[in-house]
Amino acid sequence: MSDPNGPVLELKDVAVHFGGRGGLFASPGPVVKAVNGVDLTIGRGETVALVGESGCGKSTLSNTIVGLQAPVSGSIRVAGEEVVGADRRKLNDIRRHVQMIFQDPALSLDPRSTIGATVGEPLKVRGVAKGEALKQRVGELLTQVGLRAEHADRYPHQFSGGQRQRVVIARALALEPGLVICDEPVSALDVSVRAQILNLLVALQKRTGVSYLFVSHDLSVVRHICDRVVVMYLGRFVEMADRATFFANPKHPYTRALMSAVPQADPVVQRGKERYVLSGELPSPANIPSGCAFHTRCPLATEICSQVRPELTPRPDGALVACHHA
Ligand SMILES: Nc1ncnc2c1ncn2[C@@H]1O[C@H](COP(=O)(O)OP(=O)(O)OP(=O)(O)O)[C@@H](O)[C@H]1O
Ligand code: SF4
Ligand SMILES: [Mg+2]
Repeated sequence: MSDPNGPVLELKDVAVHFGGRGGLFASPGPVVKAVNGVDLTIGRGETVALVGESGCGKSTLSNTIVGLQAPVSGSIRVAGEEVVGADRRKLNDIRRHVQMIFQDPALSLDPRSTIGATVGEPLKVRGVAKGEALKQRVGELLTQVGLRAEHADRYPHQFSGGQRQRVVIARALALEPGLVICDEPVSALDVSVRAQILNLLVALQKRTGVSYLFVSHDLSVVRHICDRVVVMYLGRFVEMADRATFFANPKHPYTRALMSAVPQADPVVQRGKERYVLSGELPSPANIPSGCAFHTRCPLATEICSQVRPELTPRPDGALVACHHA
């Protein structure tokens, strides 16, 4: 890959749309604009949290970065290499640098494969290791995530949810990727094991230097692990800031509303002064409101908000905010 010290991920104006084409006799359906032109750079060893309500486009963007979904426009560079339009061979090569951890470990693991076969599969498929060396590497990977080498012979149903997510993490790290996209990695887990898995992700980052894009709708989870936070609303980023700035001084009315929704028990998250209540449903991404897409729910909205879309602009403390009045 090009520059070993360059960013692991660079997104430029990435848009992902669904539908719009009818069948042979059907009229075209509405275009669902799930992701609408986003820019993001993630550095080595950095954790960026991507937050927003259900349906705002977090998983669509994640899937697009790993190549499960094609963008309609924009550029995606992984470790300096362009993913969009790359041929299959190059894509395959690039993809080893980006792995994904999904919400439900039970759905990510083949119930008929042993844990050892599952964790070793990427190494075997790419010819990185075989035979005794493969077995040894699988043992190391299992140990790294807090399991034991002898667990390799067991099947997924013989583990708890938290242990299964450890297996998924071991497999994601097998090829030593530069970036792991964690899409709600603790949401399906028992509250009692969430902190253990988050601590494991942090410890693995310290050891390997891996970067994370950490997707969550839960601000109290991301504040434990992220360096930076990005807030998404209807396919666009509306606020972006380093963790300290973000939690000390959230600016966008949508961000403030998300913070108000966090339970009172989290005093740091609750520091925002006035409470903004998020009213109404998220509008459909097939019919995005004009101007600022948040104007239909925003307590600060004025006439300009429905007419002119605010761009992300830098603030004195370094935060980027897309709002006419914040
Ligand atoms: N394959 C698809 N075809 C059509 N629409 C889709 C498809 N995948 C996602 N969408 C739509 O795109 C929008 C964004 O979905 P996405 O799954 O990215 O949201 P999300 O932010 O991950 O939500 P959640 O927090 O619930 O996981 C939603 O309106 C969803 O219905
Ligand atoms: S631009 Fe207007 S509608 Fe959008 S968040 Fe700011 S105040 Fe609210
Ligand atoms: Mg999702």
